[in-house]
Order: sequence, then C-alpha cells, then structure tokens
Amino acid sequence: MTEDRENWGTKLGLILAMAGNAIGLGNFWRFPYQVAKYGGGAFMIPYFASLLLIGIPLMYVEWMQGRYGGRYGHGTMGCSTYLLARERIGHTKAAIMGAIIGMLVFAVTTLVNSYYIQIIGWTLGYTYLSLTGRYMDATKPTAEVFVSYIQNPVTSILFWVIALALLAYALSRGVQGGIEAWAKVMMPLLYVFGLILIVRTLTLGSPVNPDWSPIKGLDFLWTPKWEALNWQAALAAAGQIFFTLSLGMGIIQNYASYMKPDEDIVLSATSMIFLNEFAEVILGGTIAIPIAYTFLGPDGVAGGPGLSFIALPNVFRMMPAGQFFGAFWFLVLFFAGYTSAIAMYNYLIAILEEDLKVQRKTAALVVFALYIIVGLPSALEPILTKTGDLAFLTELDNWVGTYLLVVVGLLEALVAGWMFGPKNCLEEINRGSWWKVPNGIFSFMIKYVTPVATAILLILSTISYIQQGYFKWVPSFVENTPQLVPWVQGARMLLVGIFILGFLQSYYSIQKNYGKAQAQKGV
Ligand code: PHE
Ligand code: NA
Repeated sequence: MTEDRENWGTKLGLILAMAGNAIGLGNFWRFPYQVAKYGGGAFMIPYFASLLLIGIPLMYVEWMQGRYGGRYGHGTMGCSTYLLARERIGHTKAAIMGAIIGMLVFAVTTLVNSYYIQIIGWTLGYTYLSLTGRYMDATKPTAEVFVSYIQNPVTSILFWVIALALLAYALSRGVQGGIEAWAKVMMPLLYVFGLILIVRTLTLGSPVNPDWSPIKGLDFLWTPKWEALNWQAALAAAGQIFFTLSLGMGIIQNYASYMKPDEDIVLSATSMIFLNEFAEVILGGTIAIPIAYTFLGPDGVAGGPGLSFIALPNVFRMMPAGQFFGAFWFLVLFFAGYTSAIAMYNYLIAILEEDLKVQRKTAALVVFALYIIVGLPSALEPILTKTGDLAFLTELDNWVGTYLLVVVGLLEALVAGWMFGPKNCLEEINRGSWWKVPNGIFSFMIKYVTPVATAILLILSTISYIQQGYFKWVPSFVENTPQLVPWVQGARMLLVGIFILGFLQSYYSIQKNYGKAQAQKGV
C-alpha cells in the first residue's frame, strides 16, 4: 500500500476523465463508417448485443481490477493481473499470465498511441487550416490538399510534435492537475461543439441537389439493411465496442487505479458508458455522414480519414461560415483524440514511475521521446513513399488496435471469471458502489457468457484475418504495391520488439514486487 499515490480530485472529474478516455476518434470516424458499411440500423443489433454481453461486464471488471491494483500501488497491468490470479493458479503461472497481459497492453499503449497522436496532429493542423481558410479554394480537390498535407514535413511533422508536446505538458502536471483538469474543459466543450454541429447539420439544405437533405442522409445511414447483417458485421460491431469503450487496452484500469479504495464503481462506470454511447450513436451518428450526404450525395460518403479530412472539407468550403464549422468539427476530433491519447501516455508514465521510480516530470519527457521514435515511421511513410497510402499505420491498427484488444479482453474475462472468481469480483465491484450489480446474473455473465462470446469473437476474427490475407508475410492489401511491403514488415518487426520489451518489463515488475525474496519478507 502506498500513501503517496495520486488521486482523482472529484467524482465528476473522474467520470469526465474516464469519458474522455473512452470518447475518441473511434466515436466520430470509426463508428459512422462501420454503420454505413455493415447494414445501417441493422448494425445496431450486434452492436448493442456486444455492449450487453461483453462491453458492460468487462467494463465493470476493468474498473474493479484497476481500483484493486491501485490499492497495492499498481496502475499497470502485469502486477494487477498477477494479484487477481495468484490465489487460484499460484505464483509462477500468475506471473506468466500477468506478463503476457502486461506485454499485450504495453504494445497497445505504445503502438496504437504512436499513430493515434499522428492523427490528432492532423486534426490540429486542420483546425488551423479551417480557421485560416486554407482549403477553401474550390479549384483544388480536397483529396489533393490532404495528400499534400501528410506529405509535407512542415505541416505533418509540426502539428504532430505540437500535439505530443501538449500531451507531455499536461501529463507532467499529474492526474489531477493534468488529466482531470483538461478533461473538465475539453469534454463539456466537445458536447457543446457537437450539439452546435448537429443543429447546423439538421438545418442544412443541399445547394447541389434538392433531393439530398440531412434527413435523407440520416435515412441513408440508419435504414436497416438486413441482407448486410452477416458474421462480418457482427465482428465489426463487437470490435467497435472494444475500441470505443477503450477495453482491452489497460487504460481503464490505469485510471481506476487512482480511485480511493471504496470509491463508487457501478454508477461511475455506467455513466461513463452512457456518455460514450451518447457521443457515439447520437453525435457520431448524426454529424459527419448526414452533412456529407447533403452536400455530396450518397457517393460522397466515405469512411475513416477520407470522411473527415477529404469529404467534410469539401462540404465546409461550400457552406456559409464553413471556416468556423470546419474548425468546430476538427476541434471536436481534437478534444476527443487528445483526452484518449492522454490515457495511453499516462500508462507508460505509470510503468516508469512504478518500476524504475522515475519522477513524473522526467517520465513524461522519456515517453515523449519514445513516441517520437516509435511514431516516426508512420509520420515519414507518406513523405518518403510519395503515395497517399499509410501501410505502416494500417498494419499496426489491424493488429494492435483491433485484434489484440480482443485477445486481452478474453484473458481478462478468464482471469476475472475463473481465477479471481465471480464472488470476489462482485464483492470488489459492489463495495462502495451506489448501485449494486446483482449476483446471479453477473456471475453467470462473467463466468460463461462474456468469455464464450469473446472467444467466439476471437476465433471468427482469426478466420476473417486469414481470409483477408493478413497473416501472410506479404499481406494481401500490399500485394500490388511492392514499395509498401517494407513498411508493413517493418511494422511487424517493431511489434515483435515491443512484445519482447513489454514481456520483460511486466515480468520484472511482478518478480520485483512479489518474487521469492519478497515472499520471504512476507509482502
Ligand atoms: N476509446 C478510444 C476511441 O474511441 C480508443 C482509444 C483510446 C484510442 C486511447 C487511442 C487511445 O477512440
Ligand atoms: Na469511444
């Protein structure tokens, strides 16, 4: 037990910080695209099923594991997993389990964030481009503007480093003075800007084609297309639940580790889920696609970076006061991204603080340097290859940002349901909570439903990855662009390196705290 562990200042601060953690780019550009691609309104069936069967139970478990670990001074996953598992499976196996989970989330927090901060840099750069009217010239296609943006070292590198420096600055101020303070400003602003954009969207008329309207855009997005509801759609829905709720990343646990030992879990975690779902289904589902539809029609609606950085600038240049609405949009993305990236960044600081006793301020600088090094390939790829492709980033996202989350989720469910056990979980979750999770249903969920559903998800994802050729040494998506192959393979080698480092780090951390010598001292 450590007395000097940092704490959240207020309950509202904790909930906003957690909501900031969950609400990210996933809500605003990943979600709408998935809905459009996988069956519109029909997508919401597997989506909400995954939320109930996997998302909510795992969320309570992650908060519980975090608060539990925090009581022993741990905000990192190796040791907190070890503590949950050791009674049941003994020191050695629990240490290995802890080291594996620690390794996986180390890869997630290092690599996902390395490209995520890149994209946050784009949102900052595009806020600037909006305010200064740089993409307003209607003769230059917005796709060209974007490609020259990411290929120009001045813009792409500059705003990336600014975003990273802002994160480093906030994090050097600690949990309350940094994470919590920024979340209290950015999260309310995100909702306000988001609501302004919704009102603007719904009151637009199309200047191009009277048949295109925001309401038609909503129809286009949400009308159920039952024939699109196949197992790929179910996979996408469950994957989206993991990504959007920040599950399987170790960062919910990290935030929860700064809670007081008897602080409420159930109501707080439920509020956070609600805030994320509101930002996802309502804000994410009402702004981007209906706006794009109104101005560009059904063929103008793209996904991912294409929607935010190519289609929407096209809209903003046609719209009255588009510079400002453009700035609002990119600031919403920036706030969303920033308050998520800060969580991953803090996870790495926590490792340095706990295992190497590095001061927070120094740790913030070390992690800054780490993200520069690890993020450099994704930043340099468009500049060096002169194509608009982002193979390095895509490869990392496919593995670390998608597949590994499910692996971690499955292991967590097994640790909670079968090692720590439903009874202990429930006691921990309900202790201090304003709402209580009912015993029977929770035990059944965490023992059977959640692990089985996650295991099925993992098996189907594996099959789908094999079919899409992701397991091949030259994956199918770069077969026809040989110049991108080294980038994909480089990403894989980086991943292996990070795995090794993450395993050693977690294993060392567990041994140092709970190894033989410590056991004899009776710790
Ligand atoms: N939940 C976040 C989102 O929806 C995912 C995330 C968290 C990504 C932290 C990066 C860093 O975007
Ligand atoms: Na989210």
